[in-house]
Amino acid sequence: MSTVHVIDHPLIQHKLSLMRQKDTGAKEFRELLNEIAMLMGYEITRDLPLKDVEIETPICKCHTKVLAGRKLGLVPILRAGLGMVDGIMSLIPAAKVGHIGLYRDPQTLKPVEYYCKLPADAQERLLIVVDPMLATGGSANAAIQFLKDRGCTSIRMMCLIGAPEGIAALQAAHPDVDLYIAAIDEKLNDHCYIVPGLGDAGDRLFGTK
Ligand code: PRP
Ligand code: URA
Repeated sequence: MSTVHVIDHPLIQHKLSLMRQKDTGAKEFRELLNEIAMLMGYEITRDLPLKDVEIETPICKCHTKVLAGRKLGLVPILRAGLGMVDGIMSLIPAAKVGHIGLYRDPQTLKPVEYYCKLPADAQERLLIVVDPMLATGGSANAAIQFLKDRGCTSIRMMCLIGAPEGIAALQAAHPDVDLYIAAIDEKLNDHCYIVPGLGDAGDRLFGTK
C-alpha cells in the first residue's frame, strides 16, 4: 500500500484557504498555486539521495554533501497541473518536464487523453506527476498508467486537494505510487467535484469561466 503524505504546513494551509475563496482572481490563484507547489516540492524531495564531496571554503578544505544526481522529471496533467510546474522548477531547475493532456468527459466523467510528450529518458527518472485536484482519481490513475505503459517505474503523485474517493482509487490502482497532498477534503458532490474544494482548477487558473 502506498503512503499518503499530508503536507499541512501552516503557510500551505493559509495559502490554500485563499485559493479556495470564490472571489480570488486568476492572477492571485496562479501565484498561490505556484507558491504552494514550491513548498510541497521541498517535502517531496526530502529523501533525495546525497553523496559526499570534498570542497574548499575560504577557510579550509572540508567534506560535505551534494545531491547524488538522481534525475527528476515533472509530469503535469494538462491543464491545471501546469500551474504547479514553475514553483517546483524554482527548487529543481534541472528537472525535465513531460506533459500528459487529459480531460474529464463531462458526461462519463472518464479521462480522455489528447496529448503525451515525455522526456526521452523518462524511464531513468524519478517522475513527479502533478495535478491540483484528485477527485475520482480517474485522471491521475490514467496518467500514471500511461507512464507505466512507457516503462516508467519510479513515480510519485503530487496534488493540492483530494477527495477520499480519489485517494482510495489511486491507492487501489497504483499501490507503488506515494501521494503528496496538501488537504484531504470531505467528499465528492453529484458532479464529482470536490467538496468544499476550490471549484474547477483549470478554469480558475486560466480564467476560462
Ligand atoms: C481536473 C483536474 C484533474 C481532474 C480531476 O481537470 O485538474 O485533472 O479534473 O478529476 P478526476 O480525479 O475525477 O479525474 P479537468 O478534467 O477539469 O481538465 P482541465 O484541467 O483541462 O480543466
Ligand atoms: N476537477 C476540478 O477542477 N475540481 C474538482 O473539484 C474536481 C475535478
